[in-house]
Formats: sequence, structure tokens, C-alpha cells
Amino acid sequence: MIKNKKDPSTKKSKIQVIDLHKSFGKNHVLRGINFEIEEGESLVVLGGSGSGKSVLLKCVIGLLTPDKGQILIDGQDVLKMNTRQQDEVRHKFGMLFQGAALFDSLTVWRNIGFELLYNQKLSADKVQRIVRQKLKAVGLDDRVMELSPAELSGGMQKRVGLARAIASNPEIIFFDEPTTGLDPIMCGVIDKLIVQSLRDLNACGITITHDIATARFVADKIAMLKEGKLVWTGKSSDLEKTKNSIVKEFINGHVHKTDNSSIKASKASKKALEVAAKRREQTK
Ligand SMILES: Nc1ncnc2c1ncn2[C@@H]1O[C@H](COP(=O)(O)OP(=O)(O)OP(=O)(O)O)[C@@H](O)[C@H]1O
Ligand SMILES: [Mg+2]
Repeated sequence: MIKNKKDPSTKKSKIQVIDLHKSFGKNHVLRGINFEIEEGESLVVLGGSGSGKSVLLKCVIGLLTPDKGQILIDGQDVLKMNTRQQDEVRHKFGMLFQGAALFDSLTVWRNIGFELLYNQKLSADKVQRIVRQKLKAVGLDDRVMELSPAELSGGMQKRVGLARAIASNPEIIFFDEPTTGLDPIMCGVIDKLIVQSLRDLNACGITITHDIATARFVADKIAMLKEGKLVWTGKSSDLEKTKNSIVKEFINGHVHKTDNSSIKASKASKKALEVAAKRREQTK
């Protein structure tokens, strides 16, 4: 739903991950991950708790070093670059952290403008101008600029986190569990803002989540992570048509493993689709 309508033959590969492995001691978390994202494309990685979603994201953004594999950004392998080259590549990234992860001691505008102020060393005036635009983009009044994060609601903090993620007009945006802990209406608002931000910047996105409704709403392409591998990749619209049992079990709610699980499962699956449709309605 996000992909722009360029001729497919002119599409460029933005991110390519090849045979990525990462272990912590004997815990072999990533066991050969492969995927590719084109310009303007939105990938969602679904997976249960502990499946390695955050580890995968941290490897791609450079917070963790993989044991094996390649990560190509615009065709260049970041793992073969020196630190200065890696920093340059990371300037293309924006990140919405799980739980927003704002700096408590900084005002809202300094949080949003952090990269611009402290890394790019732009003037306070210029940064405040950009921050005002970004606040508008995420639907917040610029009167919040001088507030501290503690004075904001959970939903507002997420919006500020999103404004920070898009502040430097990134080419690639990462979203770590963007809707966890929010009420259904706010989930819908954030889903819509993710789609809008990617579209406005013509950026590509990687979202990791266990929220099916978010996945269906923001993804062009969905990948399912289980036991260190992507066991299924397909178009968002193929999610509920797939015969892949792992995906079906996940959609149907992995909590519904009781005696009459198949009845509960089909109800849960319907419910997830209803929630996605409702969110779309509520946020129109
Ligand atoms: N820095 C680390 N050191 C050691 N083990 C780690 C580290 N980070 C993650 N792990 C392990 O890697 C595995 C995957 O963790 P990860 O945080 O990627 O899960 P997740 O899929 O993001 O789960 P959740 O949905 O709960 O956030 C877990 O077994 C975890 O204990
Ligand atoms: Mg995680």
C-alpha cells in the first residue's frame, strides 16, 4: 500500500541482508536471515517474543555486530566499511525505539532535534523550525516544544518519538514495536502516521511487531521470524491466504492453544482482521 508507482524495472535495492547469523554464547538467535527491501518499500517482521526481532534490527542499524553474513545498504556492505563510512550510512537511518525512549532531561524540541543539534550542529533556530514542521507532520501542537517527556501521555510520547525518527529526513526508517502498549485508537493513529511518514519521505521502512493489525496496515511485504529464520515472506495481502502453518498459528493467536483451539483460532483470526479494518475506519 505504500510502494510508489515507479516502473518496477527502475526500482533499486535499498537494503539486502544475506545469510545473517548472530549468537550469544550457545544461544544461536539468528540462523541465516535473508531479505531484500527496495526503495520506498515497507517490510514488517512478525515474530513471537524472544524470536530475535530486536536482535535483527540491532544488527541492521549497527548496534550489534553479526557473526556472519552481509548487510548491503544501497549495494554497499556496511560490515566491510570503516567506522567513518558506517557513520555516513547511518545518517540515512531514522529510528522509532520501543517505548519511544526519549531523553527525560531534555525538552521535547531538543529530543526531536537531537541528531540535528548535537551531531549535525545546526543552529537552535534552524532546528526549532524543522521541529515545528515535524510536530505538524505527527499531529502535535508546537506548544509541546518546551515540555519535558514526563509531561506527555504515552501516545504523545510515541508521536514525539516518531517526529525524532523523521527529523533528519531519513531514507530508511526502523520502527521497533511502534504500537505496543497503546489503546486501539492510538494504535490506528500511529499506524497511519508510519504509512504517511514513509510516503512523505519516500523512505523504506522496517517495522518489527507482534501486532497483526499494525503489520497488515503498514506493510507492503511481511516476513515471519521463527527460531532464527524467516520461515515465510509474502505480500501483506497474502497473509491470511497462506497455508504456512507457522504463520497461520501466529495470526490465529499463539495464546489460544487449548483443546478446542481450531474454533478459537478461527475466531481470533477474524478478530485480528476486524481490528485492522476498524483502525483504518477510525483513522480515516
Ligand atoms: N545483548 C544480548 N545479550 C545476550 N542475549 C541477548 C542479547 N540481546 C538479545 N539476546 C537474546 O536473544 C534472543 C532474542 O531476543 P530479542 O530481544 O531479539 O527478542 P524479540 O523477538 O525482540 O522479543 P520481544 O518481542 O519480547 O521484544 C533472546 O533469547 C534474548 O535473550
Ligand atoms: Mg524486541
